[in-house]
Amino acid sequence: MRLPCILTLLSATSYSLAGVTVQKPGLTVPPAYASHKAAAEKIFTTSYAAYKKFAFGHDELLPVSEGPNDDLGGWGASLVDAMGTMVVMGLTDLFEEAVNYTATVDFNTSPADELISVFETNIRWVAGLLSSYELSGKKYPILVEKAKQVADKLAFAWVGDNVIPYNTMNFTTNSPEIGTTNIAQVGTLTLEWAALTKYTGNATYANLTAKAVIYTAGLATPLPGLAPQVIDPSTGQFADAYLTWGGGSDSYFEYLVKFARYTNNENPIFLDTWKTAVDSSIHTLLKTSTVGNWSFLADQDDQGLIRHVGSHLACFYAGNWLLGGQLLQNKTIVDIALLLNDGCWNTYASTVTGIGPETFAFIGSDGNFTGGDPITAEELTFYNEHGFYITGSDYIQRPEVLESNFYAWRVTGDTKYLDRAASAIASFNKWLPANAGFASLNDVNSADGGFIDIQESFWFAEVLKYLYLTFDDPSHLSLDTHVWNTECHPFEAPPALDSYTAKLIPQKPFTPHITNQPRPAVSPIPQLE
Ligand SMILES: *[C@@H]1O[C@H](CO)[C@@H](O)[C@H](O)[C@H]1NC(C)=O
Ligand SMILES: *[C@@H]1O[C@H](CO)[C@@H](O)[C@H](O)[C@H]1NC(C)=O
Ligand SMILES: *[C@@H]1O[C@H](CO)[C@@H](O)[C@H](O)[C@H]1NC(C)=O
Ligand SMILES: *[C@@H]1O[C@H](CO)[C@@H](O)[C@H](O)[C@H]1NC(C)=O
Ligand SMILES: *[C@@H]1O[C@H](CO)[C@@H](O)[C@H](O)[C@H]1NC(C)=O
Ligand SMILES: *[C@@H]1O[C@H](CO)[C@@H](O)[C@H](O)[C@H]1NC(C)=O
Ligand SMILES: *[C@@H]1O[C@H](CO)[C@@H](O)[C@H](O)[C@H]1NC(C)=O
Repeated sequence: MRLPCILTLLSATSYSLAGVTVQKPGLTVPPAYASHKAAAEKIFTTSYAAYKKFAFGHDELLPVSEGPNDDLGGWGASLVDAMGTMVVMGLTDLFEEAVNYTATVDFNTSPADELISVFETNIRWVAGLLSSYELSGKKYPILVEKAKQVADKLAFAWVGDNVIPYNTMNFTTNSPEIGTTNIAQVGTLTLEWAALTKYTGNATYANLTAKAVIYTAGLATPLPGLAPQVIDPSTGQFADAYLTWGGGSDSYFEYLVKFARYTNNENPIFLDTWKTAVDSSIHTLLKTSTVGNWSFLADQDDQGLIRHVGSHLACFYAGNWLLGGQLLQNKTIVDIALLLNDGCWNTYASTVTGIGPETFAFIGSDGNFTGGDPITAEELTFYNEHGFYITGSDYIQRPEVLESNFYAWRVTGDTKYLDRAASAIASFNKWLPANAGFASLNDVNSADGGFIDIQESFWFAEVLKYLYLTFDDPSHLSLDTHVWNTECHPFEAPPALDSYTAKLIPQKPFTPHITNQPRPAVSPIPQLE
């Protein structure tokens, strides 16, 4: 990557939609769907009013016990995650109040005295501040200043000559916790830090983060393009051989194609690696259920065995493949993405609440191995009806299924995706309202499973923004003018190229260095987002 050139590309401010388009040209939302946009906004204002009343300035609201929660440092994660959505929804007073609050945040220490996740902090604070800066017309330079302050602390995660950053920081001492990290944490910094370079002129941000991914993409992997999950910053080596599009790996793959679009393929390794990962996944991980013929991307474990598991987190893959398939003008990838999207939506359509579970499993024609407990009689009954079965029944306000549904609507213009989003809004209004705001659920397949007492920050950033945008004029924030970070914070992108090409990277001999404990059946590494 040559940074001066990136800066030129990124500084384009007005452009026409020449080049490859991701969205269906001329798309409009039929008037019959207008009321759902207001419904999404109503959920947002209700949720935010409750946060403001009981938890303002804290990371999250506890919607059942009506109190604050801090688990992301204590600077007010919900507030920064909500800011961009406020601008999108035209909630100017709330936005200005949030800007004023963020101006007072002191990143020199964690008010909650917590260790700070580089990943979780970057996707909320660096992204939320910079995206809000752009969305609000670049009138509040304090937002760039605060993004720079937090990134300057996170930059201490690069120690000595390590190309790979550590994952967790003590902000008081500027020292990281020494240990392994995962590829999602390494790969989910490039967009935000390139944007920071664009607005500060300091090339170090883009350089540090791009270098980490270029290095990782150059390592030998179990299958071409598919990096395993765990990596050790001190050795620069992978520490396992586990392949998944789920948590712990997810947004490494997500950002390969998004960064390629953001920089218009300036360094081909990002798009080549993404294309190669997708190609390997089609050959090895793409499986269909024996009931219903639903498509999913399975995992491949350290022993090379296919695990027939899926997760809410992984369901971003449909939207991501739609983006990349459109950029590459590859109908095969787009068509598979739409099948994956249907498989994920079926996990919503099949439950009592109409909301999908955290994790699930299925039986493929190649077997039913999940690496965990064998399927029970009860699970088999559910499977025979729905083509998947629930292994983790909770819903903690995750966005990925509705995120992919948003991409499917914008790419195809098929109103069935608007119906799905409307159905999710109805389910949320029926099942999630708590004493204050909107809670999470213990069991999506039970009418009386009870609440989990948390209103997540990404409820504001992601679920409600994706739902609102699904019903908004598709030309307002278009997939052709913006690239969304993994927390649904959009960044202005340069005009698209006339074509994006990618070549497959050949396999290199891979020797696993497995230093991790044997891993559980599903969700190998829990992620807050
Ligand atoms: C934000 O701060 C500015 C400057 O102090 C002040 O004029 C404005 O009223 C504040 N806005 C809100 C909504 O608090
Ligand atoms: C960070 O380091 C300081 C100084 O050693 C220590 O007092 C504090 O407890 C540490 N914070 C956490 C969350 O470990
Ligand atoms: C650029 O940012 C890096 C990372 O925070 C910092 O160490 C460096 O001093 C900055 N350079 C300039 C010229 O400000
Ligand atoms: C980062 O900066 C170094 C030194 O200026 C340069 O050699 C390298 O190519 C840069 N890497 C990236 C990915 O920009
Ligand atoms: C589209 O991508 C698939 C999967 O990698 C590949 O097999 C196919 O050759 C590509 N099609 C074109 C026209 O490039
Ligand atoms: C299952 O779905 C795949 C992908 O759409 C399709 O190729 C195949 O024909 C379907 N099989 C059955 C039995 O319907
Ligand atoms: C799952 O696989 C095991 C081992 O191959 C087999 O004994 C069992 O019958 C399978 N169960 C189902 C429901 O297919």
